[in-house]
Amino acid sequence: MSTVCARSPDTVRDMDPVRNPYAPGAGQRPPELAGRDRELGVFDVVLERVARGRPERSLILTGLRGVGKTVLLNTLRSQAIGRLWGTGKIEARPGQSLRRPVSAALHMAARELAPHHRAPDRVDTFLSVLKAFALRDNPSTARLRERWQPGIDVPAASGRADSGDIEIDLVELFTDAASVATDVGTGIALFIDEMQDLAPADVSALCAACHELSQTGAPLIVVGAGLPHLPAVLSASKSYSERLFRYQRIDRLDRDAADRALCAPAGREGVSYDADALDALYAASGGYPYFVQAYGKATWDHAPGSPVTVADVRVAAPEAEAELAVGFFGSRYERATPAEREYMRAMAMLTADGDHDDMSLAVPTAEIARALGRRPASLSPARDALIKKGLIYSGERGTVAFTVPHFGRYLRTQPTPDG
Ligand SMILES: Nc1ncnc2c1ncn2[C@@H]1O[C@H](COP(=O)(O)OP(=O)(O)OP(=O)(O)O)[C@@H](O)[C@H]1O
Ligand SMILES: [Mg+2]
Repeated sequence: MSTVCARSPDTVRDMDPVRNPYAPGAGQRPPELAGRDRELGVFDVVLERVARGRPERSLILTGLRGVGKTVLLNTLRSQAIGRLWGTGKIEARPGQSLRRPVSAALHMAARELAPHHRAPDRVDTFLSVLKAFALRDNPSTARLRERWQPGIDVPAASGRADSGDIEIDLVELFTDAASVATDVGTGIALFIDEMQDLAPADVSALCAACHELSQTGAPLIVVGAGLPHLPAVLSASKSYSERLFRYQRIDRLDRDAADRALCAPAGREGVSYDADALDALYAASGGYPYFVQAYGKATWDHAPGSPVTVADVRVAAPEAEAELAVGFFGSRYERATPAEREYMRAMAMLTADGDHDDMSLAVPTAEIARALGRRPASLSPARDALIKKGLIYSGERGTVAFTVPHFGRYLRTQPTPDG
């Protein structure tokens, strides 16, 4: 057992709920970012290489719901800012075009770079191109456009990044943004969360822009995060995307990292865990960061004092589960229609034995159809809608899996509509 978890000499110590360090919640910064040293190290090298004009690929982080993609993306962004890079972040939403969020993100990046730039007029020239790009929105949203102003103080340029073809415009915009960063001797990093939700035309434009920039060694990279099928979305768009991006799978934490996620913050409050308490917490959380935080938080609130015991974990677990049922599972389940719920319940029954150890058990769609006594084609609408809603994904042809860890287990505890 790692030393941070060792019993502290002062045995019984009151646990103050106000000082509870754990942070279950979407995008909530954890008190200890455990088990991500490799990713942080890789990104350091990428930043250094890109700033020196060395060939480097953009990064894509993929993983299930709640494994810590958003938190890691935010940490990488801080790392880039620490190296005086210009950064911006967007969260893709289904049905939303890339133009406005990208404009806002690159505006932010330019503002971060500006104080280090010796020639303010160069920054302004870029901002005028950025404004032209931003204003060239889809004509169907023209009325909105009249009301919307990108908040850039310089007049819009014309003839660059404003053709209306997103692929051409992104290449030009990224090229100009990168050249501002070159002047400063750093780079620009554009972070895109929930990247699987980008529209196909935007995915293809982004790939094309990254491709173009990587060939010229221009210091701009995209760092994307999304569900496990994001690589498939990218390669369906451009066949060269496999070589364009470096994919990093963000996984659940191994035992050491999960213990550290619990013990390091507790140690800072003078609180320690018994070894069998940590065993029980790992058994409950499976190492999934969201669950580590949720069980850690509930256990802290129930434990009378330090060290935290296995009995404390047992008492607290039902409360953690009840909270997860509402906040983590229930909020997603609610998004599904009755037909989609039926589909997912069939999936859950078919994974009944497995989802204790495997994070993403894939189920053949043919088996789901058989279980429901339906023709496979008649279930395609439910399957496609669930993929769009981000509840399931298809990693391999002909199979589907839950994007939410332990979702099958949750569904099996839900009452069926007819009783
Ligand atoms: N490395 C880590 N160590 C400890 N806790 C972590 C770690 N990464 C994330 N967490 C915690 O896990 C939870 C989920 O993190 P986050 O929202 O980043 O996940 P996500 O992968 O973006 O999920 P989603 O797909 O739902 O957006 C948060 O409560 C966060 O504090
Ligand atoms: Mg997220």
